[in-house]
Amino acid sequence: MSLRYKNKVVIVTGGSKGIGRGIVRVFVENGAEVVFCARGGQFCAAGEALEAELNMEGPGSCTFVSCDMSKEEDIQRLIRVTVELYGHIDCLVNNAGWHPPHKPTDETTAEEFRDLLNLNLVSYFLASKFALPFLRQRQGNIINVSSLVGSIGQKDAAPYVATKGAIISMTKAMAVDESRHSVRVNCISPGNVMTPLWEELAAQTPNAAAAVRAGENCQLMGRMGTEAECGLAALYLAADATFCTGIDLLLSGGAELNYGFKSQILT
Ligand SMILES: NC(=O)c1ccc[n+]([C@@H]2O[C@H](COP(=O)([O-])OP(=O)(O)OC[C@H]3O[C@@H](n4cnc5c(N)ncnc54)[C@H](O)[C@@H]3O)[C@@H](O)[C@H]2O)c1
Repeated sequence: MSLRYKNKVVIVTGGSKGIGRGIVRVFVENGAEVVFCARGGQFCAAGEALEAELNMEGPGSCTFVSCDMSKEEDIQRLIRVTVELYGHIDCLVNNAGWHPPHKPTDETTAEEFRDLLNLNLVSYFLASKFALPFLRQRQGNIINVSSLVGSIGQKDAAPYVATKGAIISMTKAMAVDESRHSVRVNCISPGNVMTPLWEELAAQTPNAAAAVRAGENCQLMGRMGTEAECGLAALYLAADATFCTGIDLLLSGGAELNYGFKSQILT
C-alpha cells in the first residue's frame, strides 16, 4: 500500500503509550517524520524504547523528546526542537492528557481543577499557538484528542469532562481563525479505548476485570477501541479529510447510541 503521509513532519504530544503511541506508530508506518514526547524521569524509558522499536521498522522515523506538557517553556522547546530537526511542521496532534480517579464535585478542590485544565486544555492551546506559525507555512493541520464524554458527560468527573468539552469548542474556534491560513483544525473524540490509563482507572475499582467488561459493554460493538484505530483516525484527518475542519470525529463504537439504564434516582 502507498505511504499516506510520506516525509510529512508530525508532532504527537504524549506519544509514549496509549492512544498517542498508536498515533505515532501509524504515522511512522505511513512514512512520516514524527516527534513525540512524554514527561521526564521514569516516563522517558517507554518513549526511548518506542523510538528505537519504530526506527527499526520504518519506513518513516521518530524522535522522542522529554517534555512536560504542563510547562509552557517545555512546550516551546518541543516545537523548537522539531523545527531545528526538520525545518517545518505539517501536523500537530495534541493528545497528552489525564483522567483523574472519579470523585464527586464536593470532594474536588479548585487546585485540582486548575491543574487538570492546565494539562488537558491549556497545553493544547499553547502547543497550537507555538506550532501555528509553522503550520501556516505548510497549510498544515491540528488534531486535538478530546473524548466522547466531552459531549455526553460522565459520572463523578466534572473537571475532566469540562476540559474535554472545552477542547471541542476550542477546535471549532481555531478552525474559524485559521481557515484564512488554510490550516485545518479538527478533533477526535474516543469512547473507551484500552490503554494504560484505562487499566489504571479499572485497577482503582473493587473488581478491575468487571470494570473492563462493563467498559467493553458500553459500545454497540461489545469491545473497546484500540490504539491502532485511534492512529488510523488521526491519519485520516491529517491525510485524507482535506475538506474537513472544525469537526469532532467520534471514535466510540456507537457508545452514545440507544437507551440504557441511566437513572441514579434513589428509590
Ligand atoms: N483511553 C481512553 O479510553 C480515552 C478515551 C477518550 C479520550 N482519551 C484521551 O486520550 C488521550 C490519551 O489517553 P490514554 O488513554 O492514551 O492515556 P495514557 O495515560 O495511556 O497515555 C497518556 C500519554 O500522555 C503522556 N502524558 C501525560 N501527562 C503528560 C505530561 N504532563 N507531559 C507530557 N506527556 C504527558 C503520557 O506519558 C502518555 O504518553 C488523553 O487526552 C485522554 O484524555 C482517552
